[in-house]
Amino acid sequence: MAFYSNHFRNNFIFILIITLQSDEILGYPAEAFANANTDSIESPCVETSLHTVLCSGLRSPAALTNAALTARHLTVTNSSLVALSGEHLLPLTQLLALTITHSRVVLSDLVWPARLGLEELVLERCWSNSPDTNNSNGAVNNKLQKYLQIPPKVWSALTSLKTLKIVECSIKVDDEPGGDGAVGFGLLPPSTFLSIEGGEYECHSIQVYLLTLVESGRAAVSENTSCFILEDISKFNSYYTFNKKPLLDVLKLRKSVERCPSACSCELLGFRSLDRPLLSVDCRGAGLTTLPPAIPPLASSLIMSDNNLTNIDAVFSNPDYSRLAKCDFSNNAISSINGAALLNYFTSREHDVYFDLRNNKLSQFPVWELTSFYNKGHRSGEKHLPAFDLSGNPWDCEDCSFIPYFKSFVYDNMFHIPDHLRVRCDDTGALRPILYVDFEAQCYPKQSPLMAIDVVNIFMALVLLATIANFAHNYYQYRRYGKLPWVVRHCKRC
Ligand SMILES: *[C@@H]1O[C@H](CO)[C@@H](O)[C@H](O)[C@H]1NC(C)=O
Ligand SMILES: *[C@@H]1O[C@H](CO)[C@@H](O)[C@H](O)[C@H]1NC(C)=O
Ligand SMILES: *[C@@H]1O[C@H](CO)[C@@H](O)[C@H](O)[C@H]1NC(C)=O
Ligand SMILES: *[C@@H]1O[C@H](CO)[C@@H](O)[C@H](O)[C@H]1NC(C)=O
Repeated sequence: MAFYSNHFRNNFIFILIITLQSDEILGYPAEAFANANTDSIESPCVETSLHTVLCSGLRSPAALTNAALTARHLTVTNSSLVALSGEHLLPLTQLLALTITHSRVVLSDLVWPARLGLEELVLERCWSNSPDTNNSNGAVNNKLQKYLQIPPKVWSALTSLKTLKIVECSIKVDDEPGGDGAVGFGLLPPSTFLSIEGGEYECHSIQVYLLTLVESGRAAVSENTSCFILEDISKFNSYYTFNKKPLLDVLKLRKSVERCPSACSCELLGFRSLDRPLLSVDCRGAGLTTLPPAIPPLASSLIMSDNNLTNIDAVFSNPDYSRLAKCDFSNNAISSINGAALLNYFTSREHDVYFDLRNNKLSQFPVWELTSFYNKGHRSGEKHLPAFDLSGNPWDCEDCSFIPYFKSFVYDNMFHIPDHLRVRCDDTGALRPILYVDFEAQCYPKQSPLMAIDVVNIFMALVLLATIANFAHNYYQYRRYGKLPWVVRHCKRC
């Protein structure tokens, strides 16, 4: 450093020192470097202003060393610098700022020299992988994609670095799994400011410490920096992906995953759209009797199977549960569902949701609320209605104020009840799906044959018979005894 400062103060005019000897050792033709002094167009490096050198088309960092030995500001462009390491930078004792653009550069994990006084490093549109990849930036999900590979410990030796700027690169940081920041950009010296502008960042194994750097003012990531992934990570990949999603948003979401309940495991697997991440919370078999009070707020998939839940009311009231698209509550002890709350949950959502309620203790279901909700949905042509799996519950087939309506509900919405053929009664009807049980016969048995109209008819017949009998009696009395009927005797005017 002292050496450099002296030169700086003396306004030292540097000369490119070329020795035939080293050129031959490095395999570069002497003419190329000889020409450097004479500003020839063939020269890979030219001094554009005082202490500022521009090199174009370099094929090796060794050539760089010879051409720009005393530069303070060095720009390398359109080059192919395989394995740029401390070894190559060591002779650049004057170097303050290094800019590499449009070049293939392999950053080596070898120790960078501590006495290298480099203060600013800019990598713009650089990549590390094979130059055979003729595939320019933008192609995603492709093994041929160019990317700039950052080895885990590459920055730790650049102790004087004040600015690290990475512009329009596809960055792939070699994080160690479960890394907590002790790798990659997390190893930048505390005095270094990291700036990522544009470009992409490999988000498959992205670590949250980058967001910590941004929040603590030690780094800036531009809004237009997006994610890319190199290979298929799962079968969800075509549908749920990180590709093209803004890096900052993905980082924030990753951070929210830290709210994972201790009994569960949480994972961000990608996105369907930016506001619909595939974020799963898996609490299966955790011995839970209530729902966790907090889960990552954008959770889309909740697996609570094989626990001892007795109700799921928290799903309807806790905002953390408002974005769920799939809830597996199978094999619990859920015995009731709050119909008003469920209805409110459905009506306040923008997309459908699936509840797996198999093998619980449900005997009743909020059929009234749901029937009106589904009917409204069918009328408006809505295809995305909530879905349920309901089998394995002791449905109360004795309750005539419930079961016929429940059967109608299951029948009318069977497309939204995948296991509708396995929804059965608790006891006698056990082996028959409720869809095949005639609850009308059970709940509204045929009335007795003696109907009201029959009663009236019989009464009328009796009256008629009595009238005829009375007439016959009167006639007999009159013929035999000359006795007029009672009515005639008592009727003065007849
Ligand atoms: C680098 O190459 C590109 C074409 O690949 C060209 O447009 C650009 O001018 C070159 N830059 C320099 C500094 O030679
Ligand atoms: C890029 O590579 C593909 C094969 O991987 C080849 O067919 C194509 O011609 C190449 N394009 C250029 C511009 O070299
Ligand atoms: C990305 O954003 C930065 C500033 O945040 C801007 O300078 C740059 O031009 C943008 N790049 C693209 C490709 O839009
Ligand atoms: C659930 O509770 C029952 C008793 O009510 C108990 O036998 C069972 O082990 C519990 N299951 C879990 C997963 O805690």
